[in-house]
Amino acid sequence: MTKKEKLAEIKKRMEADKSLPLASGASRLVFGDGNPDAQILMIGEGPGYWEDQQGLPFVGNAGKLLDQLLATAHLSRNDTVYITNVVHHRPPGNRDPEPSEIAAYGRYLDEMIEVIAPAAIVTLGRFSMAKFLPGAKISRDHGRPVTMPWRGREIVVVPMYHPAAALRSGEVMLAEREDFASLESGLKSLVDKRSETTKESEQMHLV
Ligand code: URA
Repeated sequence: MTKKEKLAEIKKRMEADKSLPLASGASRLVFGDGNPDAQILMIGEGPGYWEDQQGLPFVGNAGKLLDQLLATAHLSRNDTVYITNVVHHRPPGNRDPEPSEIAAYGRYLDEMIEVIAPAAIVTLGRFSMAKFLPGAKISRDHGRPVTMPWRGREIVVVPMYHPAAALRSGEVMLAEREDFASLESGLKSLVDKRSETTKESEQMHLV
């Protein structure tokens, strides 16, 4: 099965899962968007009104800013990134997701991460940051890549501000723009290094 097919299968199971805590209040599941073969996975918080309407993550104002920021880093959801959230149904009234809700969707998010197997995960906002870096503080740690073990693999996690926070504060917007600017070079060297390792492993018949 291709990664795309594996993700479609997870999506189907999520749509059928009546135990998902936010399902009854939402219009539809907002699973993810982008290239399943991308080396970069971006994880936000949860769908808002427009995402709930369209079934795609980051299509409202924060999403428009995210697309611009991606473009400045020469990244795009058609090609170099896959985007999802820590919860995949809209919380009522756009409230913050509860820890129990994040845990319920987290089982599926972990499966998605396993399938996509990205070289780097960019967390957007504090909820997805806390999943990987529980002791981190966004105002201190944003933009700083952390290499960590994740289910038997090594991944790089880059905590970033949520684009909605950048829309609310000029200072955060400045930091967000700087972080996206350095993301490009940081991720490029990481992805190049990873594909070299894969090539070497292929030559040695390790993969
Ligand atoms: N904010 C998020 O965290 N995710 C979305 O999909 C949209 C807005």
